Amino acid sequence: MAEELTPETPENESDRTAEAEGTEEPIKQRKNGLYPEVSDELAENMKSGWADTDLHDLEPVAQAAYTERRRAALSARFPGERLVIPAGNLRTRSNDTEYSFRASTEYAYLTGDQSHDGVLVLEPTAGGHEATVHLLPRSNRENGEFWLDGQGELWVGRRHSLTEAGQLLGITAEDVRELPQKLREATGPVRVVRGHDAGVESALTDKVTAERDEELRVFLSEARLVKDEFEIAELQRACDATARGFEDVVRVLDRAEATSERYIEGTFFLRARVDGNDVGYGSICAAGPHATTLHWVRNDGAVRSGELLLLDAGVETTELYTADVTRTLPINGRFTELQRRIYDAVYEAQEAGIAAVRPGAPYRDFHDAAQRVLATRLVEWGLLGDLDVEKVLELGLQRRWTLHGTGHMLGMDVHDCAAARREAYVAGTLEPGMCLTVEPGLYFQADDLTVPEEYRGIGVRIEDDILVTEDGHRNLSAALPRQADEVEAWMARLRG
Ligand code: GLY
Ligand code: MN
Ligand code: MN
Repeated sequence: MAEELTPETPENESDRTAEAEGTEEPIKQRKNGLYPEVSDELAENMKSGWADTDLHDLEPVAQAAYTERRRAALSARFPGERLVIPAGNLRTRSNDTEYSFRASTEYAYLTGDQSHDGVLVLEPTAGGHEATVHLLPRSNRENGEFWLDGQGELWVGRRHSLTEAGQLLGITAEDVRELPQKLREATGPVRVVRGHDAGVESALTDKVTAERDEELRVFLSEARLVKDEFEIAELQRACDATARGFEDVVRVLDRAEATSERYIEGTFFLRARVDGNDVGYGSICAAGPHATTLHWVRNDGAVRSGELLLLDAGVETTELYTADVTRTLPINGRFTELQRRIYDAVYEAQEAGIAAVRPGAPYRDFHDAAQRVLATRLVEWGLLGDLDVEKVLELGLQRRWTLHGTGHMLGMDVHDCAAARREAYVAGTLEPGMCLTVEPGLYFQADDLTVPEEYRGIGVRIEDDILVTEDGHRNLSAALPRQADEVEAWMARLRG
């Protein structure tokens, strides 16, 4: 059905304001055309009779003091340059239905805001930069936007006014619909974080280069390597909620057996949505041989007594910090002898890895420590012929069964700080405030003819979230048991 718009501009509204508010004419019909056209009388009626809901004198959000410091560090790195950091836009799933939105990590980190279409701009000034956050304002009631547009507040909920947002975030807020024109008209050096907002990028095409924009992305990735105290508290919250989610799963393993891995995924997801914002990544609910597929997220397999469940899942908090935790659990509550032998080797490797996490240590140490333990066990089990451990490690032959690196930085992104330079990350040194996963594993594929048949189809990973402290480390996910006897006792208690 055709969209019908009347041609007149509402009285007392200048062209400039109308353009800024995104619609030049009153809206007469919902975009999808499924509703009858709006009569002039109804349009008039809907304009008025609404109470003033403006909020006054709002206190800044808890994160505001931290985001200010983060912006100051960014400002100091790029003096004299305009910096543009978009949150990203909604993505259509079909027609007028959108995928759930998550603000870009860079934007949320620097503003504490999570609005779609938001854009942070740092304008260079004599003394540094002035920050402005560009946001969608409250919906226009005069032209019908608020109840006829798909993103009108009547459909999607109230937004903060620009004044309210400014008070909450501690940053001046302006109408984002005016931003592309401003960016086109602006002069001087500019950089943008790419990949989030095609509209903003197209307004800057002639002014930016990929190389310079990459420097901005790298800086923001490295800035997040060391967490501030707000971030550490969020990561602890994420781990605590994740521990509750794992307990939820253990309690329903009987029901999961009667259905599938999906029951486990849904159970954990409920916890993530109630205690946090979402899961921080697709939950890996891998029962039996699926545990040997590193990123098994189809989760459509059977859950069988006697097999292991590898559950790799993390709650993302409302402020967008995620945990990343794995436990490998005997579905019926008891490890078999072989399962336990493999589990104990991974546990021992993880203990060695965690012990290597301390300030001043090369980042790679924890990986090397864990790999050495696993190679030693694989040699002992006779899986590597006559080779000794040193030779195995030199050739990396243990990697047929250890498969992946032993961990990664963790924060707002599950694989956090991924754009950091090698020297700042994998070839760097651990510092207090860094948070990383330690997650060794052993995986014997179901079709691996080089191992005894009874090993095939067994996969074990144990993953915890470890904060580097001034004097060593703290395990943020320690609430969940790891040692085999403790896992069995914990499961028995929860299943009562
Ligand atoms: N959950 C993905 C990982 O452990 O890295
Ligand atoms: Mn991980
Ligand atoms: Mn994981």
